[in-house]
Amino acid sequence: MNIHTIILAAGKGTRMHSSKPKVLQTLSSHTLLEHVLIQAKAISQKVHIVYGFGGNQVKQAINDNSINWVEQAQQLGTGHAVAQAMPQIEDDSISLILYGDVPLIRSQTLKRLIQVAQDTDIALLSVMLNNPTGYGRIVRQNHIIQAIVEQKDADTTQLAIKEVNTGIMAVNTQLLKKYLAGLTANNAQNELYLTDIVKSAVNDKKTVGSILATDEFEVAGVNDKVQLATLERVFQKNQAIGFMQQGLTLKDPARFDCRGTLRFGQDCDIDINTLIIGEVTLGNNVTIAANCSIKNAKIGDNVTILANCVIEEAVINQGACIGPFARIRPQANIGEDAKIGNFVEIKKSTIGKGSKVSHLSYIGDTTMGDAVNVGAGVITCNYDGVNKYQTIIGNGAFIGSDSQLIAPINIGENATIGAGSTITKASPEGQLTLSRAKQITMKNWQRPTKD
Ligand code: UD1
Ligand code: MG
Repeated sequence: MNIHTIILAAGKGTRMHSSKPKVLQTLSSHTLLEHVLIQAKAISQKVHIVYGFGGNQVKQAINDNSINWVEQAQQLGTGHAVAQAMPQIEDDSISLILYGDVPLIRSQTLKRLIQVAQDTDIALLSVMLNNPTGYGRIVRQNHIIQAIVEQKDADTTQLAIKEVNTGIMAVNTQLLKKYLAGLTANNAQNELYLTDIVKSAVNDKKTVGSILATDEFEVAGVNDKVQLATLERVFQKNQAIGFMQQGLTLKDPARFDCRGTLRFGQDCDIDINTLIIGEVTLGNNVTIAANCSIKNAKIGDNVTILANCVIEEAVINQGACIGPFARIRPQANIGEDAKIGNFVEIKKSTIGKGSKVSHLSYIGDTTMGDAVNVGAGVITCNYDGVNKYQTIIGNGAFIGSDSQLIAPINIGENATIGAGSTITKASPEGQLTLSRAKQITMKNWQRPTKD
């Protein structure tokens, strides 16, 4: 039977105090709704999203043509929300109901639930909570489910029940349609409760099955920024555990965040407070010290990244050493065994094999050969206020400290630039070029004195 997933996402999420609809808040690298959608797509033939508040914003953010978008203009209850999607769903199918603000649900759990739904009419996902306040209680008689009673409608005996409805359920679509059509808002909240379909099924002598969620965070909803942060930590912890089980050394998994995809070889070691964003690949034996931010980067074997580096859209080739306090910007390609030291910024530049830029430099729009030594404080002046120009530095060149290379400029192979030079013309290979005023000492000069 086809599985149709209906994701309820009509809520505004007032408690977020945000201009964005709640389901567009982000957790790791995806919005809440995207997390649910990824799991839904893994197990269903068709996904329907019931939207209300900020609908266009939600549609634009998700931007997925395969989804059937269903508007619920007025929020009249969960039963009403699900009913909006029914005309698009064939009777001979299973309807799986998910929530756009329950982001950590896993497709393995949903698979188990659907298995139960194959042999029953309604399959509920429930969870045991020490504090069940606020949730619908699962009422059983001789272990058999009789009804779900909402907090506001429950009596004292029912309020003591710790097994609660997560809201997630898989239902025979034909019966779901029938029971939704019969719902009334005759309850404490004057809403059309989806949960009332359970009582109808029991009255109809239908079977109601259930499975227990083993992890309460998997079924936890997000209503405010505190819950959002709680689930972010749960997500990060689970991800970190997965990485460690695959051999990554994390000095402290509680101080590691990956918002994207991390691939790594053997014997990689990451110290505290590292942030991985986007697609990051580490080769074998990569060491990353504390407080680094690495986004969309490819890092080769045996690379050492010292503390406090920011690396973005760059390639660091094997054996290179970066930092501490280096900034490697987009389109930087750092050659094998190269060394980029403290307070060095590299942008849109290729640094050749074994070259060193060790202190306080800006290197932009540069092609640097192999075995170049760049002294402290060297700056490539790549910008005239309008256009950007290239600097080319040949193999084996030595750039003296505190020099400025005014691009476009070409420094020949094995050329030496004297320290403190401002170089505006091509510097020939193998020779010393410098541009400095001659040093003089004023014999009779006196320091000024106070009048
Ligand atoms: C619901 C369940 C309750 C369960 C709890 C789990 C019902 C009647 N109750 O209660 O048994 O324990 O979830 O969290 O189903 N929504 C819409 N349109 C609506 C109403 C709701 O899209 O008209 C969406 C909301 O945005 C929200 C979700 O459905 O994401 C749940 O709605 P809410 O009113 O918060 O249900 P609860 O009272 O929490
Ligand atoms: Mg409610």
